[in-house]
Amino acid sequence: MFKHDLGDGADLRIFDRVQAPAFLTLVEANRDHFGAWLDWAYTITTVEDAQAFIKRGMSRYAEDGLPWTSIWLDGRMVGGILFFPVDWHARSTMIGYWLGQEATGRGVMSRAIRAMLGVAFDDLKLNRITLEAEVNNRPSRAVAERVGFAFEGVHRHGWVRGGNFVDMAAYAMLASDWQRLKAER
Ligand SMILES: CC(C)(COP(=O)(O)OP(=O)(O)OC[C@H]1O[C@@H](n2cnc3c(N)ncnc32)[C@H](O)[C@@H]1OP(=O)(O)O)[C@@H](O)C(=O)NCCC(=O)NCCS
Repeated sequence: MFKHDLGDGADLRIFDRVQAPAFLTLVEANRDHFGAWLDWAYTITTVEDAQAFIKRGMSRYAEDGLPWTSIWLDGRMVGGILFFPVDWHARSTMIGYWLGQEATGRGVMSRAIRAMLGVAFDDLKLNRITLEAEVNNRPSRAVAERVGFAFEGVHRHGWVRGGNFVDMAAYAMLASDWQRLKAER
C-alpha cells in the first residue's frame, strides 16, 4: 500500500474502496465545514456514495497515474487530495483538497499538497498544476499561497456551488516554479 509519511503522525495513502467507511465518517463529521465550499459534502450520505466517490478517483488514477489520496492523522482519516483529469497535451491538471476541522491549523494540508506536487511534477513530468478557490475561501487561498502557487486572477462565475455561480481565485504552479521552490526549501 502506498503510504507517504508527512511527519507529526500524519500520512498520505492512495484512496481505496476499503477506505469508504472512514471517508463517510469524515464527511459526516465535517458536512458543513466541507459543504461551505464543496457540494459533494452534502451528497455523500451512505457508504455506497463514499465508494462511488472513491471509485472515480481510482479510475482516474488508472487512467492518468496520478492518485487521489486520503490524509491520515494518528491512524484516522482526516482529509484528501484529488486531481482533475490530466490534459496530456498541455501536461496540466487541477488539484483539489479537504481537511477535517480538527486537523486544520497544523500545516498538514500544506505538507500533503507538496508531497503530491512531487508526484505530479517529478514523477509524471507535468508542467502546470492549477488550483482554484472561491474568492472568499480564505483558508484555501492561504494554503495555495503558503505552498507557493502564483495568483493569476479571478474567474468570474467560474464554478457553481449550491446552485449559484461563484467567483474563483485562480492559482497555478509551473514545473519551473516547483524546481525553484524545492531549491529554496
Ligand atoms: C482549506 C483547508 C485545507 C486549510 O487547512 P489548514 O489546516 O488551514 O491548511 P494548512 O495545512 O496549510 O495549515 C495552515 C495552518 O496551520 C498553521 N501551521 C502550524 N504549523 C505549521 C507548519 N509546520 N507549516 C505550515 N502551517 C502550519 C498555520 O499557521 C495555519 O494556521 P492559521 O490558518 O491559523 O494561520 C481546510 O480549511 C479545509 O479543508 N476547508 C474546507 C474544504 C475546502 O475549503 N477545501 C478547499 C476548496 S478550494
